Amino acid sequence: MTVLRQWADLGEEELADAYAPGGDPWLRLNFVATVDGAVQGPDGLSRSINNEVDHRVFGLLRELADVVVVGAGTIRDEEYRPNPKPLVVVSRSGRVPDSLRAGDLGQVVVATGADAPFLAETRELLGADRTWLLGDAAPDLTALRRALVDRGLTQILCEGGPSLARDLLAAGLVDELCLTTVARLLAGDHLRLADGAPVDVPLTLRQLVVADDGTLLARWFTR
Ligand SMILES: NC(=O)c1ccc[n+]([C@@H]2O[C@H](COP(=O)([O-])OP(=O)(O)OC[C@H]3O[C@@H](n4cnc5c(N)ncnc54)[C@H](OP(=O)(O)O)[C@@H]3O)[C@@H](O)[C@H]2O)c1
Repeated sequence: MTVLRQWADLGEEELADAYAPGGDPWLRLNFVATVDGAVQGPDGLSRSINNEVDHRVFGLLRELADVVVVGAGTIRDEEYRPNPKPLVVVSRSGRVPDSLRAGDLGQVVVATGADAPFLAETRELLGADRTWLLGDAAPDLTALRRALVDRGLTQILCEGGPSLARDLLAAGLVDELCLTTVARLLAGDHLRLADGAPVDVPLTLRQLVVADDGTLLARWFTR
């Protein structure tokens, strides 16, 4: 059933309720996009399209998650730093992105394949127990989800980027897409939220929150 809500009616508690997980285990994708589907702004990053409303939901979804999973490209582009939540970097190269090296790597895991060229370096930085080999050329994403759930990390938040989102969708591993649409239109060649070979995933709208500035916060379920 679709629930339409006004952002202005949602205090902290109501907002947390509005984003209560739809199951356990549960994998959520979270993206912000413009009305024409761009997930990058003029600076090539998401920070030039997101806004205060999106920031609040982005933070809440992190709070509600046990683990954050991000493609290495997004970590490099957005210069992620380690944060208090466990962070899984999904990578074929197996390299720990530079921006993460500036902080405490204690909660960082790299999920990669046995053929990854940076394996030795990453093992030295993170140790073998946080260098997960889940395939050969690339990590098997189904095995990654299983490995997280087996460790009790059942609320999984994926913050992108578009290549990883596409691969998770193609593998049928996504339960929910949280999509903030900001009231802007950019045209140009910006990436959309899923990038790569075509996928076709039917979605069901579970909730739509409308803010006064025109920002739309949707929860889309895949099943
Ligand atoms: N608006 C938003 O909400 C939002 C969210 C996230 C990102 N973005 C934007 O998206 C852009 C980055 O796009 P992107 O497609 O390059 O992001 P991405 O999916 O994070 O990065 C691609 C890289 O991640 C790794 N990767 C992705 N899928 C993989 C898989 N299935 N197996 C193994 N490794 C995998 C590979 O890393 P290696 O090269 O290390 O092998 C690959 O080169 C940036 O501009 C960023 O700002 C926007």
